[in-house]
Amino acid sequence: MISFDYTPALKFISSEEIAAIEPQVATAAKLLESHTGAGPEWLGWLDLPTKYDRAEYKRIKAAAKRIRKQSEVLVVVGIGGSYLGGKAGLEFCMPTPALPIRGGRKKHFDVVFTGTNLSADYHAQVIEAIGERDFSVNVISKSGTTTEPAIAFRIFKQKLEEKYGKASAAHRIYATTDKARGALKILADREGYETFVVPDDVGGRFSVLTAVGLLPLAAAGIDVDALLRGAADARLAYKKPLAENACYQYAALRNILRNKGKEIEILANYEPRCHYIAEWWKQLYGESEGKDGKGIFPASVSFTADLHSMGQYIQDGRRIVFETVLEIERPQMELLVPKAEDDLDGLNYLAGKSLDYVNKKAAEGTRMAHIDGGVPNLTISIPEATPYYLGQLFFFFEKACAISGYLLGVNPFDQPGVEAYKKNMFRLLGK
Ligand code: PA5
Repeated sequence: MISFDYTPALKFISSEEIAAIEPQVATAAKLLESHTGAGPEWLGWLDLPTKYDRAEYKRIKAAAKRIRKQSEVLVVVGIGGSYLGGKAGLEFCMPTPALPIRGGRKKHFDVVFTGTNLSADYHAQVIEAIGERDFSVNVISKSGTTTEPAIAFRIFKQKLEEKYGKASAAHRIYATTDKARGALKILADREGYETFVVPDDVGGRFSVLTAVGLLPLAAAGIDVDALLRGAADARLAYKKPLAENACYQYAALRNILRNKGKEIEILANYEPRCHYIAEWWKQLYGESEGKDGKGIFPASVSFTADLHSMGQYIQDGRRIVFETVLEIERPQMELLVPKAEDDLDGLNYLAGKSLDYVNKKAAEGTRMAHIDGGVPNLTISIPEATPYYLGQLFFFFEKACAISGYLLGVNPFDQPGVEAYKKNMFRLLGK
């Protein structure tokens, strides 16, 4: 199992504070499990790892196979909750190489995410990068009318139809949307696209274990059975009481820290493959908790790179920050530090040591420094970067988010604030 260590934060909180929050956590858990808390109509994600549509799951895997057979590139179109889980999962299991060697390599299958911004340059670059390669499209939008993905879909649908003709293009478009309503559902039915469902009781940011995340991940060749197994094991493990429940402990600790004025949580990682996990996590916690004038501000850093940019602030700036470190215990690759004859940089004392050893020591040293600097530290340890542990991690964060939102006293499942920018944008565009 993934594990959680809050002992380094004990310097900042007392055992009385942990004891005091225990009944509140138990109440929050009861409200959640009995569907009697805020937003009960949005709790489908709680049972997803075991209670899902088996027939649709089979279709997802079959569609993934078909996509790989018919194309070299899958263009995923979606934004927010309709994109971040898939992107996070893909980068975690199959990180983009530092050099773009994948594209252009024969037989390599690429997944690219679009509709996540309104940049002409970005979308033109994707079109150029696809070039002559065969491609399919997975358009993901519960509403079917979100501006960014709707525009991107128009663009890639047009490209597909120009390349293959309308009828063949329809066999390359896979729509993940509401089961009955919305613009995309109407279009998909009319044009004959294969469709997958965003369940009514699962909000975008909790949807990674539905077709929203599963189809792009399966198409990329990621073992979605293992992913769901990990989530199912987490679902069982995270029903236990606080003392034995890493997920509840994380929710409890972050709320204790918030009550002590630690209003910013920085999710830190030492492995670039975790970068988009942090992006997904920021949406999950930001949209779930940032309301009614409340909420911890979720931020993220990728170390050691950001130690050279954000390190100063974290060490020495306003003392309103706590840090949660995502640690991967065992890397997949081993690299050793080479010996240099002249030892000009003075690093020969590390010669023969693994790079991961150095990375772990950097993490340890940083944690000690941050604690000395007044930054409480929590650590989530993932044994290995595999789909199984990823499933656990997704569920860990989702359930902790729900408990944390209840502890905070908000409805973690709505997002009334997201509409404000849209209203202005539509007015300015003359809608
Ligand atoms: O979590 C959310 O609700 C949002 O991020 C939505 O997922 C996002 O706005 C995309 O919405 P839709 O799937 O309707 O296009």
